[in-house]
Amino acid sequence: MQLAILISGNGSNLQAIIDTIGADKINVVISNNPDAYGLIRACFHGINTHVVNHRLYDSRDQYDQALHQCIGYYNPDLIILAGFMRILGASFVQKYENRILNIHPSLLPKFKGLNTYQRAIDDGEYEHGVSIHIVIPELDGGTVLMQGSYYLEDGETAEDHRAKGLALEHQMYPKLIQMLIDGKIQIDKVCKPIEFTL
Ligand code: GRF
Repeated sequence: MQLAILISGNGSNLQAIIDTIGADKINVVISNNPDAYGLIRACFHGINTHVVNHRLYDSRDQYDQALHQCIGYYNPDLIILAGFMRILGASFVQKYENRILNIHPSLLPKFKGLNTYQRAIDDGEYEHGVSIHIVIPELDGGTVLMQGSYYLEDGETAEDHRAKGLALEHQMYPKLIQMLIDGKIQIDKVCKPIEFTL
């Protein structure tokens, strides 16, 4: 199984996947942001990298087509969104039905979208977590494959929560990808989220 990993920034999830699954399973890392540090992480491990910069395209559709062309060249089995901060259009998503995964910092369906840590604090949540889900056209709306949670302690800031969430992400994403590689689960056959425990 070969992976394409899409990033926009630091790439700490990408690093966790490289460290656990191995760089040889990743046939390309693509960033929309030319300054993403994750590109350097990928280069360091000899992984092909590309920048498909959204700023150079007039519309989402044109951007998606360029991305599709770049990914198509590598023909991956799975597209892993790891901190990829762009919304993919419906026609792109449909081309790769059940083959795009995303990691999101909340217990979906709660807190779709951005600023999930602060929103959880503002709503007085005592439990928060991470979800890995199939990407569908609706933002953060696809079937959840795996979830892990942690408690929010009194006085913790959004940054504290982010640190807890990222630590969980770094364990969850490689674990789920390895299960897929080993054939332990099939993406389109998961009917309830696998509960991730440390
Ligand atoms: C993660 O928190 C992920 O949940 C969100 O973006 C962040 C990416 O971090 N979608 P990194 O680039 O993997 O360090």
